[in-house]
Amino acid sequence: MKKLLKIVGITLLCIVLILFAIFLIINFRGIPVYETQAVNHTVISTPKSVQRGKKLATMLCAGCHMSSETGKLTGKLMLDGPPEFGEIYSLNITQDKTYGIGNWTDGELIYLLRTGIRKNGAYAPPYMAKLPNMADEDVDAIVSFLRSDDPIVSADPTPDQESKPSFLTKFLCTVAFKPFPMPDQVIAMPDTTNKVELGKYLALNLDCFSCHSADFKTVDYLMPENSKGYFGGGNKLLNMEGDVMITPNLTPDNETGIGAWTEGQFVKAVRFGIVDGQEALRYPMMPYTQLTQKEAAAIFTYLQSIPPISNKVERSIIEQ
Ligand code: HEC
Ligand code: HEC
Repeated sequence: MKKLLKIVGITLLCIVLILFAIFLIINFRGIPVYETQAVNHTVISTPKSVQRGKKLATMLCAGCHMSSETGKLTGKLMLDGPPEFGEIYSLNITQDKTYGIGNWTDGELIYLLRTGIRKNGAYAPPYMAKLPNMADEDVDAIVSFLRSDDPIVSADPTPDQESKPSFLTKFLCTVAFKPFPMPDQVIAMPDTTNKVELGKYLALNLDCFSCHSADFKTVDYLMPENSKGYFGGGNKLLNMEGDVMITPNLTPDNETGIGAWTEGQFVKAVRFGIVDGQEALRYPMMPYTQLTQKEAAAIFTYLQSIPPISNKVERSIIEQ
């Protein structure tokens, strides 16, 4: 009996030591670093591509990278990230050669936006957006905008602040979160005359689906439709004050989703944050004023075409 206890004791001790060693290795090594792959592609900028890129970047990048101090995309502390992820700063992505992306090639930018691997090889954890399904033309447009003479991207020497990712972030980036593959085929723009196709493209690439599905942990970024509770809502997000904001169900279910909404109501909610008879939509649901009426209506048409999910979501109540 005593011998057995001793064996159990030694085994447990070994397990604890091994776990501690793993902890030390992951904590010391930090966020994994990958080999980068050269992408030989030079973006051809036109006034139209810069304008398109500005529209996309305003909806997709500015929320995280815009600093209220500089009025430019110089990065900031992410207040609405889950605290378990650590202290996270977005980075300076103006054209500054030292702190910004002035020294990055177009290929390096595209490689990061597609895969999540930075110029220095470091993996950008899920708190940095990735664009695995966006059309090549639109990714190029974002790069054209970052290279343009728009004041929000002009060189600004605000130093980057290094994030302090938690052990959990390092651990998840070691075992669970992996870079996306670099697409090996051309990704074409949607047929903009087909409302469902255009709406689907926007609903996926403006990232409506990840917030509005069941949980970020079960979102499938490469095959969005495989995400758990696809557009059925219930994902718990944080606002800037740390209050939990639950996302509504956007499937065409009549009772719990938006099956009974009209196109006009939806367009008003998405573009201006206005829902009749209710308080305005609040952060992190930002009004998409850059979307045209036609684009917002296309998203509605697409959402009405997906399978309904019955999932009642109560609107978050925030104590003032
Ligand atoms: C949800 C917040 C968020 C969004 C949205 C976002 N970013 Fe980021 N971005 C970050 C954070 C945080 C980092 C730092 C990542 C890290 O520490 O690894 C980052 C890093 C970067 C970097 C790397 C800079 C460097 O010096 O290594 C670039 C470039 C970048 N983002 C561009 C963009 C572009 C372009 C968009 C829009 C398509 C975008 N980001 C959208 C949060 C975001
Ligand atoms: C960052 C996460 C996030 C993203 C991205 C996002 N939403 Fe939302 N959305 C929310 C949250 C949270 C609410 C609830 C806000 C509230 O309760 O005030 C909401 C509310 C809504 C509503 C109101 C529904 C209702 O039943 O009242 C609509 C419609 C909507 N979003 C559509 C969209 C569309 C379309 C997109 C993409 C273009 C989108 N959302 C992108 C988080 C997000």
